[in-house]
Amino acid sequence: MSEVEVKHLGEGYMDSASLKKVGVIYGDVGTTQFTCNVIGNLEQGDYVQVYHERFGWVLGKVDEIKRKTNLTLEKAIKLQDDDFTVKEIVAATVVVIGYRDERGLLQFPRTPFNVGSIVYKAEEEFIKKVIGIKDIREKGAYIGRLYRYRKIPIYLDINVMVQKHVSILAKTGAGKSYLTGVLLEEFLKHNVTAVVIDPHGEYISLRTPSKKTKLHQEFGVLPRGYEGKINVFTPDVQLNKGKPLKFTLSSMTSRELLNLMNLDARQYLIPLRKAMDLLKTSRQYYTIKDVMRVLESEENNALQPLLSQLEYLDEMGIFDKRGTKINEIVQRGKLSIINLRGVPPDIQELVVQRLSMALFELRKRNKIPPLMLVVEEAHNYAPQQGTSSSTKILRTIASEGRKFGLGLCIISQRPAKVDKNILSQCNTQIILRVTNPNDLRAIGNSVEGLTKGSLEEIQRLPVGVALVTGGNIPMPLFVEIRPRETKHGGESVKVV
Ligand SMILES: Nc1ncnc2c1ncn2[C@@H]1O[C@H](COP(=O)(O)OP(=O)(O)OP(=O)(O)O)[C@@H](O)[C@H]1O
Ligand SMILES: [Mg+2]
Repeated sequence: MSEVEVKHLGEGYMDSASLKKVGVIYGDVGTTQFTCNVIGNLEQGDYVQVYHERFGWVLGKVDEIKRKTNLTLEKAIKLQDDDFTVKEIVAATVVVIGYRDERGLLQFPRTPFNVGSIVYKAEEEFIKKVIGIKDIREKGAYIGRLYRYRKIPIYLDINVMVQKHVSILAKTGAGKSYLTGVLLEEFLKHNVTAVVIDPHGEYISLRTPSKKTKLHQEFGVLPRGYEGKINVFTPDVQLNKGKPLKFTLSSMTSRELLNLMNLDARQYLIPLRKAMDLLKTSRQYYTIKDVMRVLESEENNALQPLLSQLEYLDEMGIFDKRGTKINEIVQRGKLSIINLRGVPPDIQELVVQRLSMALFELRKRNKIPPLMLVVEEAHNYAPQQGTSSSTKILRTIASEGRKFGLGLCIISQRPAKVDKNILSQCNTQIILRVTNPNDLRAIGNSVEGLTKGSLEEIQRLPVGVALVTGGNIPMPLFVEIRPRETKHGGESVKVV
């Protein structure tokens, strides 16, 4: 193709003068994909724009870059002694994203681009317009900037997140908790009520401002703390700082109580039920000590294992005559941290189950404000295989919570091990680096619109870059997460 023709197809248009030329389309051209040679600086993931003679400017994204040569293996072996010049071009595969028509709808060009059309690095305003990225400061959570496009801030619609749930998935150390901290900061700033299940006690640092860095300035973030807006509760006040979190024993069934013990239910269910029924006839509230006293009066040695398990539960201090009131835990516009650090797994599950159940029931009756329930390490509380007492209620919240303004945010390092019913209900999905093939498959199956290139990119993402999709984000986007306003509590431990 001659210079003149190329000029006609691309450079002749007035507004292309300020754009940076990065390639020329060659080879077979489709309507959804094309290849171009690469001139200058173009990387995988970059956005490009090409002028289509019928539809105007169209946006595309570089899915893959290859260096193509005429050097064969045989010639490479002989290269040392032969005189052979290698010809090479760098070629990019570009996936067509589309253009906005006069009604503002995203459209695909229905005919291919002309071969020889010039490919330009896309302008920021054009990227925003075609993708449909909106500055929704008022009702949006500012999570960061479009990856490699630091001028484009990304906001997630908070209403959509609470109504339709969120999942944050990535391998360990990829930055899930850091990002969850960013989301919680945004909830606090927007007075969104939230409860976080915190198995490592890492969200208490939301009270403390982070140290200011250059990144803060670049992302327009000011360090601050949220001291007055955070309440911490814990089932074990000897282990952790916080207000005591207790449950009412008389609201538990004998079977639920037995599930917490490492005992054969068939052998102990009847005596335990009898003891609890007896107490119920005489009083409204009772303690574990009361149950033990009734069982001891039987003077039956076979009940000894049951008694020692009850003693263990009593020492845990998780049950009381009157449990902690939910409207003390949940306060409008505030964040409640449920610190489970060091608490045994069965007790953690009990806390998640009881608390989630209470939140759901009270939300249904509008007794507490609409809120977001954030569950860290969700593979423990809602596993795909095996049992956890909390799975059922989390499933119910995932499928029915939206009707009642109870949002769920699920965080896990093992997407393949989290209950699929729950994951499939999460409309806003945030994925950081994942390398495990099973987890990648689980993500590939549950995220719409992921290209081959994006799935490969997920495996190589640097810490702090996330793939965000769903909610108000019209197509999967890579986002560089903003720095934290508050201190991150989950710093990796330095051994040396
Ligand atoms: N966006 C970011 N910017 C800068 N540092 C980050 C970012 N995200 C994570 N980090 C750093 O990476 C480390 C791991 O992050 P984080 O604790 O969030 O990982 P995680 O995915 O929650 O891991 P785990 O599954 O083990 O809980 C931390 O030391 C944190 O400071
Ligand atoms: Mg974490």
